[in-house]
Amino acid sequence: MNKEFLTSKFHEIFPNEDKANIRLFFSPGRINLIGEHTDYNGGHVFPSAITFGTYGVARKREDQLIRLYSLNFPEDGTIEFSLNELDYEKSHGWANYPKGMVRYIQEAGEKLSSGFEVLVYGDIPNGAGLSSSASLEMLIGVIVNEMFGLEFPRLELVRLGKKVENEFIGVNSGIMDQFAVGMGKKDCGILLDCHTLNYQYAPLNLTDYQIIIMNTNKRRELADSKYNERRSECEEALARLQTKLPIKELGDLSEQEFEDNRHLINDDVLERRAKHAVYENQRTLKALKALQAGELENFGALMNASHLSLRDDYEVTGLELDTLAEASWKQPGTLGARMTGAGFGGCAIAIVKTAQIDEFIEEVAKEYKEKVGYEATFYVASIGDGAKEITTEV
Ligand code: GLA
Repeated sequence: MNKEFLTSKFHEIFPNEDKANIRLFFSPGRINLIGEHTDYNGGHVFPSAITFGTYGVARKREDQLIRLYSLNFPEDGTIEFSLNELDYEKSHGWANYPKGMVRYIQEAGEKLSSGFEVLVYGDIPNGAGLSSSASLEMLIGVIVNEMFGLEFPRLELVRLGKKVENEFIGVNSGIMDQFAVGMGKKDCGILLDCHTLNYQYAPLNLTDYQIIIMNTNKRRELADSKYNERRSECEEALARLQTKLPIKELGDLSEQEFEDNRHLINDDVLERRAKHAVYENQRTLKALKALQAGELENFGALMNASHLSLRDDYEVTGLELDTLAEASWKQPGTLGARMTGAGFGGCAIAIVKTAQIDEFIEEVAKEYKEKVGYEATFYVASIGDGAKEITTEV
């Protein structure tokens, strides 16, 4: 994205004499390498920020107004509200994410001294499950934090972003997305313990392999209700295990402890949901070890096992994601492939030998079109930093 283009658009939408005091920010999207549907079960995740994301050109105002415009939703025009009226409003569409963020920043004790205006542009493929909403929340969090000289630690902004999603928007998601977007680091995965929020960066030394993002282009219609259903199923399974076990979350269990006690759940579906949560958490820890030992094949095999568990036990994949993963597994030069994010559509990822990427894309695209009936889209992923101000050319 070109800085001049974004700033000239900003001046077009928000004409004003004050041309100097504008600032440019970027907030990434994310992929999750492994550790799916483990965050709200107190387990581990292993995501990375990517270089697709959301740009924001911002300037303070002298009054109390917040004015927002997205180049992705030009039909919505400029959305305007006051610092003193920060309630959810359906007609404000995408702008509810920034609004919720400002509201919770103020509720956390930092009253903004004035309003501001932001031009937003996102290059995350639309509705692809690469966390465009977390990207937008963290973008606004960082803009407000920097422009008004607030001193929220990054982790606090991450927590507020999650609160926006859960309480303002009403999606019961875990902390992975805001964490990856807020804390990402170039060329690294982040192993996050979602129970303690302890984390470590792990360099992604993929040698002559690269990560491919494969977008199903499937609309994620039922995604939110199915997501919430999985959460309740895990809660119920946990409650049944807790009748005998002193555990706080499914992520507290080893595979063996789960096997020894799964009869307590006494329901086939709930048992499979809990099994996924327990085994996926352990797989994530094994994947970090494999990566650190340079055992990339092992890392890939764990990704494949993750997809199978999400397909068979957690049941969040579907024809589109399964076709992408299964077609990927057959290609020479593929270490591993799996769905990423919530599932039910969205994206899958694969780790593929650089020299074989063209052939990989050609073959997987062909099989997908044949089986699903429309096209998937492919991108080579670059792993970048978390949300930040941009001072150089982009
Ligand atoms: C969505 C949620 C995350 C996480 C994933 C599944 O992306 O926002 O919190 O639960 O699904 O791993």
